[in-house]
Amino acid sequence: MQSFGEFMQKWLYGESGYYRNLHIGKEGDFYTSVSVSEFFGYTLGYYLQEQLNSLQNQKIAIVEIGAERGNLISDIAFFLKENFLNFHKIDFLILEPLKSLHNIQNQTFLQKIDSKNLLIVEDFQSIKSLHYDFIFYCSNELLDAFPCELYYQGQIAFIEDNILSFKKAPKPIEQIAQKFHLQISEIPLYIEEFIKNCNDCAKHWMFLTFDYGSLETRNEFSLRLFEKHSTKNLFISPKSTEYDKSFLESFNKCDITYDVNFTIWNNYFETIGAKKLFCHRQNRALVDMGLDKVGEWYIAKYGLQSFMKHSAKIRTLLEPGLLGERFLGMAFVK
Ligand SMILES: C[S@@+](CC[C@H](N)C(=O)[O-])C[C@H]1O[C@@H](n2cnc3c(N)ncnc32)[C@H](O)[C@@H]1O
Repeated sequence: MQSFGEFMQKWLYGESGYYRNLHIGKEGDFYTSVSVSEFFGYTLGYYLQEQLNSLQNQKIAIVEIGAERGNLISDIAFFLKENFLNFHKIDFLILEPLKSLHNIQNQTFLQKIDSKNLLIVEDFQSIKSLHYDFIFYCSNELLDAFPCELYYQGQIAFIEDNILSFKKAPKPIEQIAQKFHLQISEIPLYIEEFIKNCNDCAKHWMFLTFDYGSLETRNEFSLRLFEKHSTKNLFISPKSTEYDKSFLESFNKCDITYDVNFTIWNNYFETIGAKKLFCHRQNRALVDMGLDKVGEWYIAKYGLQSFMKHSAKIRTLLEPGLLGERFLGMAFVK
């Protein structure tokens, strides 16, 4: 018997884990902001440029975590290459434990910015050994890819022979449930260790991330799968433990995800002494970070006609009913 969290870990990252191959975009199972438009990464690049200007003469890295094809770090690097004088002094890294993705990540970086200077590392220790003064961690849809337990009023879900049942929650999970007043919820695993690892790699860092979810605790299940751009919930209703048995048969074959509870992540960042810079809906976060300035730069460089080709996709990033308000952007600094 295994807990749902162990099962989800194997589903996504095991020997035949879903994320060992590429699945995002039109031909895949779902879109992400990164796959929709380069302007997402350019805007992060614009924001980072402003921060970089205040960090003269320091050894700096921009590290993407959860990169899949490597498009986000490449779009950030593209913007900085075009706009930031000290571009050559920054190291660009991907933290990617799955070796099967390294090749495509190198290719994307080479194609987009004509450079081989992308360093791909498999663990935090390798980043730490490079002794950076400041690290900018960037990610999109990373947090919802952390395995989770399914907590229901003092119990968690276990799986045996493809049958799901609820049994008494172990103490550490019960403590988290009590701390965050959870009755029915996904409880993400490995967060504490992950944030500690980020913190251990450099004295000063920023963690910038976007994901699907909210700051409010809804006390209901949201666990679902994505396959060929359609979605299916595990539970028949979000407040019950009655589940769809066919869901478990999709093991390894499609993405499973859930709404991120940003309050939990906020709390763990604050516990290690990081300061919240912002936590807003994606549309507000991107506009605050300088999306309009990125548009001005693009038009000046490539012309209005070329920009207009991107405008529908930029709208997808911002529109409330699309990605604009279903996603949140958040940044912490230490
Ligand atoms: C939903 S995909 C997002 C891909 C990409 N960022 C995008 O927006 O198109 C999540 C990715 O996070 C990766 N991931 C999850 N946990 C991770 C961890 N602890 N360290 C590094 N990568 C992780 C997965 O392997 C997967 O590639």
